[in-house]
Amino acid sequence: MLSDTSFPIIKATLPVVGEHVEEIAKRFYTHMFEARPDLLDGLFNRGNQADGRQQQALAGSIAAFASMLVEKPDQVPDHLLSRVAHKHVSLGLSPDQYQVVHDHLMWAIVDVLGDAVTPEVAAAWDEVYWLLANLLMNKERGLYNAVHLSPETIWRTWRVTQRIQETADVVTFVVERTDERDVKPSLPGQYVTIKMTMPDGVQQPRQYSLTKADDGQHRHFAVKRVQGLPTPDGEMSTLLHNDVQVGDEVVLSAPFGDVVLEYTDRPLVMASAGIGITPMAGMLSHLVKSGSPRSVMLLHADDSPASFPLRAQVSEDLTKLADGTLHTWFLNPEEGRDESAFSGFMDVSAVDLPEDAEYYLCGPLPFLKSVRSALMARGVSARDIQYEVFGPDLWLADFQ
Ligand SMILES: Cc1cc2nc3c(=O)[nH]c(=O)nc-3n(C[C@H](O)[C@H](O)[C@H](O)COP(=O)(O)OP(=O)(O)OC[C@H]3O[C@@H](n4cnc5c(N)ncnc54)[C@H](O)[C@@H]3O)c2cc1C
Ligand code: HEM
Repeated sequence: MLSDTSFPIIKATLPVVGEHVEEIAKRFYTHMFEARPDLLDGLFNRGNQADGRQQQALAGSIAAFASMLVEKPDQVPDHLLSRVAHKHVSLGLSPDQYQVVHDHLMWAIVDVLGDAVTPEVAAAWDEVYWLLANLLMNKERGLYNAVHLSPETIWRTWRVTQRIQETADVVTFVVERTDERDVKPSLPGQYVTIKMTMPDGVQQPRQYSLTKADDGQHRHFAVKRVQGLPTPDGEMSTLLHNDVQVGDEVVLSAPFGDVVLEYTDRPLVMASAGIGITPMAGMLSHLVKSGSPRSVMLLHADDSPASFPLRAQVSEDLTKLADGTLHTWFLNPEEGRDESAFSGFMDVSAVDLPEDAEYYLCGPLPFLKSVRSALMARGVSARDIQYEVFGPDLWLADFQ
């Protein structure tokens, strides 16, 4: 994919760029937000900026892409591109913004690497950027076209019709459409982006997985209150929990997300922890609604039976399936309340996993890493394991 001129230059400069890529990403964002503070108002998630996760995700993706161009030039990192493209369109990104990111990123490369960036080196990295940007823009155009929407029209106003207190710190919001336009269908496992004005007047977006299949009128999503300590409380989840009541209006994007159920008959194993249950609940609801004959095993880990969100909903949906089973692990099992539960962290070797299953995982990164490794140690192929991360995916680079 790289031109003959750029290939040896990228190969030679990859180690030094790789070594400094996090510093480059940090300076890039600082420089860009100084010049374009409007990008922090409604587009970028300032929580992910504050704790550095978005800088790491961007840096990781560029480094992974560049090394792939050198090491496996005929392969396209589809998993990486899909995840990023879905996130971008769920935020209403438009193609013209790629030039803005380009200019600040190239500035940061020169700022960090100094004289090492000769005109030839700059031209080679420029080529890497536009290769990646063009792949993303093409994917994003395809995603907008598939649902007949544009960066401006993905947003829609909904009215809250119910707040359901699922556990002490999780609330489900049920919203209904406020006009007669068709509701875009969601695929099982997808999320929406919510955009709200924060107390300081700045707009912020966050993603929430849909927890129920479509009925053409409503959307359901469940939000866990993020309590900081020692860091600040999560701004969106606190606002939603404290201030958004029945009758209020909220702005949501159309549904996007690439971690969705495949349409096959293979057995399904879902493994979640904590609020990671939400995409699984959405998938189960879709399976019930479509009368799926698939065998489904849900493995869920939580702090205690009382903190397991959407437990009643997923348990009921599992009983409606021809072959649905639930296994739980609790750190604090509250003896006597759930005799079938395991105590401690999830241990997949404690259950009989079906042959030839597809696996979906969702939960905190350490959970994902440990469950994925345990599954692979039991012979499950990496190809059969999909996972959703509730934040910038700092893990993508490991998979290329
Ligand atoms: C695809 C996807 C699906 C998701 N689905 C769900 C779902 O179904 N349900 C759900 O509850 N969540 C879900 N999430 C997570 C959700 O989008 C939000 O990230 C979450 O609600 C936290 O947002 P917040 O605004 O409350 O927290 P933020 O304000 O974004 O804070 C996030 C973290 O950063 C820390 N932080 C903030 N400011 C600083 C600072 N200055 N210094 C250091 N640390 C700081 C906070 O303490 C907190 O720990 C999903 C995320 C993704 C990407
Ligand atoms: C080649 C160019 C680009 C690359 C490689 C890239 C890469 C990424 C990656 C890896 C993520 C994290 C995805 C995840 O795991 O959730 C991301 C998210 C994001 N990107 Fe890009 N991106 C590019 C261009 C752009 C442009 C042009 C914009 C708009 C100015 C943009 C805005 C965003 C935003 C707002 C997010 C979500 C941030 C967050 O939630 O913290 N990106 N991008």
